[in-house]
Amino acid sequence: MPAAAPHIPVLIDPLIRAVSPVRGTWLDGTFGAGGYTRALLDAGADEVIGLDRDPLALELAKEWAAEETRLRLVQGNFSRLDEHAEALDGVVLDLGVSSMQLDRAERGFSFQSDGPLDMRMSQEGPSAAELVNEADEGLLADILFQYGEERASRRIARAIVRERPITTTGRLSEIVEGVLPRQKPGQSHPATRSFQALRIAVNNEYGELAEGLMAAERALSPGGYLAVVTFHSVEDRMVKRFMQSRAGQTGGPSRHQPMQETEPPAFTLVSRKAIGPDAEETGRNPRARSARLRVARRTEAPAKPIDPKTLGMPVVKGFKL
Ligand SMILES: C[S@@+](CC[C@H](N)C(=O)[O-])C[C@H]1O[C@@H](n2cnc3c(N)ncnc32)[C@H](O)[C@@H]1O
Repeated sequence: MPAAAPHIPVLIDPLIRAVSPVRGTWLDGTFGAGGYTRALLDAGADEVIGLDRDPLALELAKEWAAEETRLRLVQGNFSRLDEHAEALDGVVLDLGVSSMQLDRAERGFSFQSDGPLDMRMSQEGPSAAELVNEADEGLLADILFQYGEERASRRIARAIVRERPITTTGRLSEIVEGVLPRQKPGQSHPATRSFQALRIAVNNEYGELAEGLMAAERALSPGGYLAVVTFHSVEDRMVKRFMQSRAGQTGGPSRHQPMQETEPPAFTLVSRKAIGPDAEETGRNPRARSARLRVARRTEAPAKPIDPKTLGMPVVKGFKL
């Protein structure tokens, strides 16, 4: 297995600054290569629960966990993080895939290296190949459009159905390239949006995010922090709407909208605006360019579910994993 480039954690300094002083028990819901966990331990956390759905991420950290008594590794999805811990002092989520997942061709996430069309972070459940080869054309087009914001979704879906079966990332990338205009300098690769859409679908990333935010609300103690790093506008919108809504900041009453009975807010916002990387960080790590950090702090108000639709979560009708 070729060695993958190490994952460079993004926005880690602003995150630690926003939640300092770091104390008590934290849950890192996207353990990955452990960059956030390490920073939290270095900053003074008494214990960090390192959760990841990818068994390989945890396997690679086994030796570290054997020596570090303040680290506990757990395999699972962050949508159910409250099943692994309660009364937490902080929860961090750093969304998306790690460099370790992206750079290993055999995990099938990347159009840049040829591998099996897989894309499953947890290494179980239906793979991208099953989705691409079994879904009907309309559903594929909706996935590409809703999850990848791909305007040529119908054309790409038609080409995929014509060329099936498709078993490798290289072949899928070729098919997408074949129906889209040639990439201009400075533009992203033509297959970027299609690969993102399939990855989001295979891993139920938006459903996980909506449920994960609610699970964090249930698991945090009063005063506990929720810090989330996103990598594209849809994720950032979901986190922003969740935090604003649960902090009671969804717009005040107006002449047209009479005052409604308000519930006590479950969070206060630590940063009103999203925090992005500075020039030094983007120079060092281009992956940080689109990263946005939002931080909120739990109050004593009881946890409450929220309708994912109010978060602006894209929905593909008829799609169920
Ligand atoms: C961007 S990486 C995190 C990198 C990490 N912060 C670091 O510094 O090394 C995202 C990680 O989260 C995991 N992940 C993504 N969605 C998840 C979910 N719903 N539940 C649990 N783990 C998830 C992925 O498997 C991946 O390892």
